[in-house]
Amino acid sequence: MKTNLLSSMIPTVTPDISVGQDGALAFGGINTLQLIEKYGSPLFVMSEDRIRQNCRFHKQMLNKYFGGNSHVAFASKAMSCRQIYRILADEDMYADVVSPGELYTAVSAGFDASHLIFHGNNKTPDDIRFAIDRGLGLFAADNMYELDNISRIATERGIQQSVILRVTPGIDPHTHEKINTGKIDSKFGSPIGNGQAEDILRYALSLPGIDVAGLHYHIGSQITEAQPFCDALDNVLEFLRVMRERLGFTARIINIGGGFGIRYTEQTPLTPYDEIFSSLSDRLTAFCTAHDYAQPTIITEPGRSIVADAGITLYTVGAVKNIPGYKTYVSVDGGMTDNPRFALYSAPYLAVLANKADKPTELQCSIVGRCCESGDILIPEAALPKAEVGDIVAILNTGAYNYSMASNYNRIPRPPVIMVSGGKDYVAVRRESFEHLISLDN
Ligand code: LLP
Repeated sequence: MKTNLLSSMIPTVTPDISVGQDGALAFGGINTLQLIEKYGSPLFVMSEDRIRQNCRFHKQMLNKYFGGNSHVAFASKAMSCRQIYRILADEDMYADVVSPGELYTAVSAGFDASHLIFHGNNKTPDDIRFAIDRGLGLFAADNMYELDNISRIATERGIQQSVILRVTPGIDPHTHEKINTGKIDSKFGSPIGNGQAEDILRYALSLPGIDVAGLHYHIGSQITEAQPFCDALDNVLEFLRVMRERLGFTARIINIGGGFGIRYTEQTPLTPYDEIFSSLSDRLTAFCTAHDYAQPTIITEPGRSIVADAGITLYTVGAVKNIPGYKTYVSVDGGMTDNPRFALYSAPYLAVLANKADKPTELQCSIVGRCCESGDILIPEAALPKAEVGDIVAILNTGAYNYSMASNYNRIPRPPVIMVSGGKDYVAVRRESFEHLISLDN
């Protein structure tokens, strides 16, 4: 018997959590304390079922608003491991990659390279060759150097390589500065506003071996409002109108990137995705009708909104230290090495004591990691039930940009990724050992 979350003390931001009668936190129907007993601590736990639901939701949105010819490409940077690509392939998803490493991981898991889009602002000739030789679907070309290399290598191989060009629409998406990419001053893409996007389009159209299929933009991440997405599309559509007049260019594809925000805390204000996509679709339809423009294929690239709420991290409490007059520090056996997001972006998270999930919160504390660094904070101000050594802390919605951004700082091995699905658990990524840590040292 599970307690209904809405009537318990447990946050509602993670759909797959529940509380058993013994007061233990369950994830995907599995007791998290048993997961710790079976696999050790700390642990990344991900719900395969939730990942699949999120993929289906995004596909339904696109189908509903842009028709069957649209594609959802999961942004691999949010979480890349072989099992993710198997799930994506099974869900008939596309994926974006930003490095040959992500591409290799996908292809080695049997993912069809023709459903991959290769991003990034500095693809080397080797990267480009590696991708073309594996049958990459689309390059999102960032700059002229890349275009030259793609053109040369595609010509050597005797193929026409499909490319979309990354442009910057000049929009401020009101998100954290470090994950904001839509403004003119960005290392990504060519700005529309100052004519550089036109220059690069003209240049791309002049190159052999390249099929310029359309445009790409991505304005930032964890965007919670519809307006920046709408403004960006408006700017890109106006650019397309002018480019058809000036260069005779018609886009077959518009890749609008990702960036759809999720609720990390109950206070995060979030515009429903339905509203965002319906406004975008209204704008596109109005544009195509007004200018007799054949409706381009729409691609989206959600990362966070596919995997964030499908993951939690479990840690064991090792020390509870009160500094009278200041605060209580709850130290856990992981930290910025498995989740650097507070250190980097002051990102908010919620925590639950997995073995006391039915208890009221009574302790204001900082949940901190084990690294030799005072910035190693997971949650600066958390509310927990009375915490003791040996308790299990669950941090919620860590499925995106945690495992993928984890490091071995202080030579701390990365935790494994355990998947839960249909009431069963399995290992998607094994725990690193000390042997792994020294495996490349001479
Ligand atoms: N497409 C492109 C071209 C991107 O650069 C990104 C994210 C995405 C799609 C996916 O965005 P999402 O739907 O996940 O918001 N490490 C940061 C996030 C960096 C995102 C970079 N690009 C974080 O932990 O918040």
